[in-house]
Amino acid sequence: MTMKMNQVPKQFQVTPIHSKDYLVNGEIKSWKGPSSEVFSSIQTENESGEMAPTFLGTIPDMESETALEAMEAANKAFDRGKGLWPTMKVKERLTCLEKFAGKMKEHREEVVKLLMWEIGKSLGDSQKEFDRTIDYIYDTVEAYKKLDHRSAKFEKEGGIHAHIRRGPLGVVLCLGPYNYPLNETFCLLIPAIIMGNTAIFKPAKHGVLLITPLLKAFQESFPAGVVNIVFGRGRKIAQPIMKTGVIDVLALIGHSTSAVALQDEHPRKNKLRLVLGLEAKNPGIILPDADLDHTIKECISGTLSFNGQRCTALKVLYVHESLVDEFNTKFSAAVDALKYGLPWEEGSFLTPLPEPSKPAYIKGLIDDAVSKGAKVMNKKGGQQSVNYSYPAVLYPVDESMNVYKEEQFGPVIPIIAYKDINEPLDAMAASDYGQQVSLFGRDVRKIGPLIDILSNLVCRVNLNSACQRGPDVYPFAGRKNSAVGTLSVFDALRSFSIRTFVASKDNPYNNEILENLLNSKESNFVSTDYLL
Ligand code: G3H
Repeated sequence: MTMKMNQVPKQFQVTPIHSKDYLVNGEIKSWKGPSSEVFSSIQTENESGEMAPTFLGTIPDMESETALEAMEAANKAFDRGKGLWPTMKVKERLTCLEKFAGKMKEHREEVVKLLMWEIGKSLGDSQKEFDRTIDYIYDTVEAYKKLDHRSAKFEKEGGIHAHIRRGPLGVVLCLGPYNYPLNETFCLLIPAIIMGNTAIFKPAKHGVLLITPLLKAFQESFPAGVVNIVFGRGRKIAQPIMKTGVIDVLALIGHSTSAVALQDEHPRKNKLRLVLGLEAKNPGIILPDADLDHTIKECISGTLSFNGQRCTALKVLYVHESLVDEFNTKFSAAVDALKYGLPWEEGSFLTPLPEPSKPAYIKGLIDDAVSKGAKVMNKKGGQQSVNYSYPAVLYPVDESMNVYKEEQFGPVIPIIAYKDINEPLDAMAASDYGQQVSLFGRDVRKIGPLIDILSNLVCRVNLNSACQRGPDVYPFAGRKNSAVGTLSVFDALRSFSIRTFVASKDNPYNNEILENLLNSKESNFVSTDYLL
């Protein structure tokens, strides 16, 4: 079937964006060097009348020199803690952030449209990603006010007065993922800057054009050098920046191999703080007394929301042997009933995969599992098109198969039958991941002790519910290779800051100075004022 751009509903049509802009030291500069082309995996008819990936535009393919210029700008804005931004009153920083949120909202339609074309996310989910990010900014403002409120006091212990606050760490390199190019990146960037750090931000490989409409909003809302945005390959941008040793925090949502490689570049490792959200292989454990209809509904959303391209996706299902046949029949039928379509089409649950190599990778996982004894349980499983692989339910899966070990990050669902609950527990303990688990069942005598164990293997036990990151006020963390640090509206403020305080021995001489300091308002740090 062919599709011309003019057959796409008018409000979702795109014309190529040729962006040369980048933001360094408060200036939107124009890149003079080579560009990279951006294509959508969604195919439309090209000028030669052939169906081909849709050309969305171009972005700068920057060299290391420009990356280092951005880093210098961030370093200068922090200025060893002397900069305007890290010493600014909390209230003023919050005003900048609120100004940014206001300006960002004006670009909702544009950004949502690009989310659909660049990463194939459905209209509803793209809108949700945008709105959730705006909410995150306002929630962060409120969380920071509370944090500031709690710090607006003096304590006295052991004859020493202390005024304890959280201070910035320095210069942050911020790298986000393609599956949530807006939300997850901003969930790093926003708390990082609000705490007084300065940042260099490089968008992910996919979901990059959608950042371009926001450059001006960043420029107009923050002082020069606080947020610097550059485009290009990690190899030419992130690695040289890390090598300088200037970076104080590596904030990255992505794969542990990238995080480790970047840490290895840093010459002053003890200085480097890490805020990392990494890969996972969250299991669903289905106990013999689980309500099957409910479990299947949750397992569908857990395994296949955004085609399984979520770090929180359920990536392996352990089903008790007493109900595995019934589960497989019903689950496979539910998978085959899912609607595949273009992101803007009503009711599309499954949508094109943005990575051109993904369908072949998924096919490789299926072929490998089948060659080792698994079967594709659903009729449509593994049906391939140029930009899609219909979700395949694989059973029985065992340790010898690649899909058992690898984080598939796509539409393939391995199912393992177990007899003894220690089988999934042992597998989780042996795994390199430890983000979340979904536990399906109802007998509290079984569930209770299991929760006690599972909560020591992962960081969130979802009871009869799919794994997910949200609501964003809840802690998002992981053990082993799944994360370093905790993110949430509140925890992220802690992750991007350090406790630092002013201490003074309790004697008349010091106390008079402290009182004068408070009354004079000469220090933005020493202050008992707070924001409502
Ligand atoms: O890719 C990982 C995301 O943090 C998942 O977030 O559970 O809200 O989809 P989500």
